Amino acid sequence: MCGIVGYIGYQAAVPILFNGLRRLEYRGYDSAGFAVLNSHGLKIRKRPGKISQLKDLLNDTALTGTIGIGHTRWATHGEPNQVNAHPHTDCSGRLALVHNGIIENYSALRKDLIAKGHVFKSETDTETLCHLFEEYIKTGCSLEAAVRKGLGQVVGTYGLVVISADEPDCIIAARKGSPLVIGHGKNEYLIASDTAPLIAHTSDVTFLDDGEVAILHNGSVVVKSIDDRIVEKCVEVVDTDISQIEKGGYAHFMLKEIMEQPQTLMDTMRGRLLMEEGTARLGGIQKDIDSLLFARRLVLTACGTSWHAGLIGEYMFEELVGIPVEVEYASEFRYRDPILGSDSVVIAISQSGETADTLAAIREAKRKRSKVFGICNVVGSSIARETDAGVYLHAGPEIGVASTKAFTSQVLVLSIMTLLLGRVRTLSSIRGREIVQEIKRIPEKVSQVLENREQVKAIAEEYKDMRNFLYLGRGYNFPVALEGALKLKEISYIHAEGYPAAEMKHGPIALIDKAMPVVFIATQDSVYDKILSNIEEVKARQGRVIAIATEGDAEIQKLADNVIYVPKTIEMLNPLVTIIPLQLLAYYIAVFRKCDIDQPRNLAKSVTVE
Ligand code: F6R
Repeated sequence: MCGIVGYIGYQAAVPILFNGLRRLEYRGYDSAGFAVLNSHGLKIRKRPGKISQLKDLLNDTALTGTIGIGHTRWATHGEPNQVNAHPHTDCSGRLALVHNGIIENYSALRKDLIAKGHVFKSETDTETLCHLFEEYIKTGCSLEAAVRKGLGQVVGTYGLVVISADEPDCIIAARKGSPLVIGHGKNEYLIASDTAPLIAHTSDVTFLDDGEVAILHNGSVVVKSIDDRIVEKCVEVVDTDISQIEKGGYAHFMLKEIMEQPQTLMDTMRGRLLMEEGTARLGGIQKDIDSLLFARRLVLTACGTSWHAGLIGEYMFEELVGIPVEVEYASEFRYRDPILGSDSVVIAISQSGETADTLAAIREAKRKRSKVFGICNVVGSSIARETDAGVYLHAGPEIGVASTKAFTSQVLVLSIMTLLLGRVRTLSSIRGREIVQEIKRIPEKVSQVLENREQVKAIAEEYKDMRNFLYLGRGYNFPVALEGALKLKEISYIHAEGYPAAEMKHGPIALIDKAMPVVFIATQDSVYDKILSNIEEVKARQGRVIAIATEGDAEIQKLADNVIYVPKTIEMLNPLVTIIPLQLLAYYIAVFRKCDIDQPRNLAKSVTVE
């Protein structure tokens, strides 16, 4: 979703803003722009399309200046054109502002401001903020006071950064519901909507919390509450290194992240498995573990790919821990008045830790007195900070819009939690040791599947022109079918649906013909025979079958048109190996269709609005 970067210091701002925006490209956007302050006042440049459209401005001598703000916009109010792109200005043209989030009462504010004589140029909700602050400045307020007072009238979410030609030595930023983080350099500061634009300059950062306003001068940062009280903030060190957010020789971030999975899975499990005792240790939930163990019910809540990981968690927890589990879309959970209470425990799953619906679900669960755990990837993210306890994925930054390595790390964390809780409630030490041993073998097994990527590529070429796909699986592989279908539609724009295989007979079977390839996840597990029957049903109707099968399964060769083998593992860990060929299949089909894989149309990496 939208991205923000701001700079105040001694270096030329434009190259820093430009490179910072580049680092935010992965979030998804449709226009970009920046504003700088110099001795001639405020200079603003913005354009629809990619950041590369702004490249010529690097040599524009009119844009010198050491203070500036930049933005990538993902359109919500008003189409993606030059006028609606950020930064926006007030009537005087002396104030420039960039904003992430949504101003819910913008329509009423806008009407009021127009009545007071303000002239609006864009269709955006954001421009309202510029005129609102201008109104306070006209009464003699400083920029900082105008921002604080103006925000008192605003309903909605914002991460905003503003500069003014009348106060050319400061940047003001404010946060409510949309993240902002300050980077502390030597005699310079940056501010951005995530750490990616900062880490080339500094690893010392301060995360703003909701309701805080930051005043950045050249040489000092002050953080206040919206009602003007100083807030003491700490400086944290982020341990991301720059290579983690670069492509490292791969054609796309998505491929890099698919290929990284043996390593990211190792990172996720590091130090967490206890072979001797056949159990696990998860420092982030240790002191709150009783609330999980004695919960009457667990509710896993998430969106998209993270929700699919949650479904796998449901199967694991119910089978091996023996606690009833429900998995809820966060967007539904937040509005449907769920029955919770102190005996229900909510586990929110999120890669970014910033998904608006998941955050709202967490707040709703807390309001209903449930304990809330988080499973997320981004350290210091809103979800990490708002949950009572939690587990980090340690998968490293995920830049590709289509989630891959975060998914496998989420499933792995859920399996480690299952082991830990299961060992207290139901599992023997022998069974626990078997699970530990098998988890440890997973990175090697994932490597084996990745080595086979040329075969998946050849299958992708064969099927690249199909217009529809069906993905079918049963048991633990049913959520994998959903995830495989999601990956394909996100990046190749081919319509794909995932179903539990037995559901096919209740409707989707009507679709089967030569033009409808069916991907079966058909590993040799407790439902293998059932899935073979489902494959027969598809073949009987001239359907084309791609099967993901267990190594050594000769039987399936006779039925399927294409077979991709994966190593055998225990049933609960199957998704960790079966999803890999499906990620590769989606990736290569999108490559053959020449799609923009890392920035698929209309999608954003982190969905920070409803
Ligand atoms: C799919 C994808 C999305 C996210 C969803 C939740 O590839 O990336 O479906 O999984 O938007 O995002 P997080 O996990 O950041 O809460």
